[in-house]
Amino acid sequence: MFQRSVIQGCGAYLPARIVTNQDLAQRIDTSDEWIRERTGIVQRHIAAEGELTSDLALAAAQEALKDARVSADEIDLIVCATSTPDQTFPATATRVQALLGITKGAAFDVQAVCSGFVYALAVADNFLRCGQARNALVIGAETFSRILDWSDRGTCVLFGDGAGAVVLTASPEDGSASQRGILSTHLYSDGRYNDALYVDGGPSSTQTAGFLRMHGREVFRHAVVKMAEAIDAALDKTGLQPSDVDWLVPHQANIRIIEAMAKRLDLPRERVVVTVDRHANTSAASIPLALAEAKADGRLKQGDVVLLEAMGGGFTWGSAILRW
Ligand code: UT7
Repeated sequence: MFQRSVIQGCGAYLPARIVTNQDLAQRIDTSDEWIRERTGIVQRHIAAEGELTSDLALAAAQEALKDARVSADEIDLIVCATSTPDQTFPATATRVQALLGITKGAAFDVQAVCSGFVYALAVADNFLRCGQARNALVIGAETFSRILDWSDRGTCVLFGDGAGAVVLTASPEDGSASQRGILSTHLYSDGRYNDALYVDGGPSSTQTAGFLRMHGREVFRHAVVKMAEAIDAALDKTGLQPSDVDWLVPHQANIRIIEAMAKRLDLPRERVVVTVDRHANTSAASIPLALAEAKADGRLKQGDVVLLEAMGGGFTWGSAILRW
């Protein structure tokens, strides 16, 4: 029997320390006005010293399990999207697995930078649909503060730390149009754009972790075009119209990019889940953080059509449509 993956629960974790635009303006040549106007960001959360990506991931995963009413021993797959792992290896997902007391199934990381959560969701969805796992934890967790060059105002004001997680459960296809679950995933990459957004270090090249480097304007230009492509592919595949979309839950990099996508779908602002003002860009964590917020405050109702889209370093980009 064909299986469908259903999001049963969501969890989120944000480090306690908040750094505002004004705080940054005291340290570098920037202003609250510039950051708000160009990005929509007002503040970001920054992990405490010694607080690891896996600690953030674990907290979000525990909340997602509770929300889904699924126990850790029912989980047989953990996919963690991160570009800021605790260690080069083993995978951050395996530390989360150990801390949850899980000793069965598979746990591994997926690295697609800001598209990471859409990639991880697609991977887990495929495992569930082909019967290789039954209950997956899909996590996006990042501590980008550790790879920021805090003297580069063009990048350091844009990112924050955080984690979000969902529990994905396999459920037999019942053939009804109203059945909950993931309806489509589309993933893309084009490695020719490596130099537009990258980290200038790594174990094989410099034996250092390196710092994030970005040509913001170029990334912006591609983001708008590429995410529109991914959205079109999702609508085509599912036979849905833009007017069928109840919620856009986009990667949160820049309010101007988010607004461009909403405009393309002709979606009013109140149908777009926005967290970039408070979280900044948390890379792979931004979509599950936004999902967790919209579920917790009751915005997402059973049966709603939810569209996810993201674009990041690589370039990588993608989309997913689900019926909530
Ligand atoms: O999540 C992965 C995908 N990432 C993205 O989607 C990010 C996409 N890019 C962007 O969001 C935008 O390009 C940025 C927010 C990064 C930059 O906005 P922009 O409107 O493209 O600005 P810009 O880079 O063209 O810079 C404009 C000016 C420059 O000054 P000049 O050369 O015009 O005199 C910058 O030096 O703004 C200056 N600038 C700043 N000024 C104050 C750059 N950063 C800052 C800053 N504070 N923090």
